[in-house]
Amino acid sequence: MAIAMPKLSTSIPEAAKALSAGKLVAIPTETVYGLAADACNEQAVQSVFALKGRPSHNPLIVHVSGATMARRYARWNPLAERLAAAHWPGALTLVLPKRAGCPIATSVSAGGETIALRAPAHPMAQQLIEQFNGGLAAPSANRSGRISPTWPEHVIQEFLQADLLVLEGGPCAIGLESTVVDCTGDTPVILRPGSIGSDEIKAASLCHQPAKATDRLTCANGEHHIAGEKLKSPGLLTSHYAPTLPLRLEASQAGKGEALLGFGRVGGTHNLSPSGNLAEAAANLFAMLRALDDPACFCAIAVAPIPQTGIGIAINDRLRRAAAAKADKQYPEG
Ligand code: TXA
Ligand code: MG
Repeated sequence: MAIAMPKLSTSIPEAAKALSAGKLVAIPTETVYGLAADACNEQAVQSVFALKGRPSHNPLIVHVSGATMARRYARWNPLAERLAAAHWPGALTLVLPKRAGCPIATSVSAGGETIALRAPAHPMAQQLIEQFNGGLAAPSANRSGRISPTWPEHVIQEFLQADLLVLEGGPCAIGLESTVVDCTGDTPVILRPGSIGSDEIKAASLCHQPAKATDRLTCANGEHHIAGEKLKSPGLLTSHYAPTLPLRLEASQAGKGEALLGFGRVGGTHNLSPSGNLAEAAANLFAMLRALDDPACFCAIAVAPIPQTGIGIAINDRLRRAAAAKADKQYPEG
């Protein structure tokens, strides 16, 4: 029997056909590569969970062409309208109540009443969703608990023996997963930080609205976390994005046997951005962590300090999770 293996392609019609046949397609997005299935096909969605080894309680994001398609699946509201108007297509995922009769497979929402929606900006992802004419359920295209892929080659490394079409769309421009915002209440709650920061979410949600309501913008995953608030994103309870080697953060130099992931003037085995540019650092982060994650050469990865500002907040979030994953492997997901 022939061994299955991923196949690289640049054909949108081939990818749309594979999705219609219930197959999985790895798709490029501007954040990270996604492992996509027809979101309305329960069996195809189940095979996403199976291939990733993802626990069934962790719901998936449905990728749509825009607000019109999002309304097929969610109870759209003014907050979502404002955020989507400001940031779609783009690296923003909105969590909304599912609409009555929503055709999306129940396992996408992990049996819950909400649905996470995102309109990706990558032209190939957009063309594919348009041509498929339906939502694509797509988590990051990595095995559960591993680093998200930002190059097509990373997807192949993750799923060496899978019958999988990989739509080749070059490296991901942003390189970090989307900002996830809960829009089910009166005020937006950031469930996962990303390249779109809390100031931008706040500004977009304030448009045409009394300031009072969104003064209470909260971040369920960071320093703005309100004590006692229930975390609403199952993926947040988990250790994520973990390389094989342990990570040591805030390092100014490499210890014995360590690789150093530098930033700015802290040189390093690799440097995220010699000029200290945080967007460049985000785009390089996962690829450089993968490149340094070699137990045959190093005993650990030391990482230079990253400023806690702008997209640096999301970079530090991913680094802290990667470091924590080594200490606590109880909830490997992603
Ligand atoms: O940039 C991204 O978001 C990438 C690309 C492929 O779009 N996708 C991605 O998916 O990072 P994934 O599955 O690795 O992360 C999705 C996150 C998880 O933390 C999950 O728990 C959360 O979104 N999520 C999904 N549906 C949700 C829902 N209904 N309510 C709350 N959180 C949800
Ligand atoms: Mg993930």
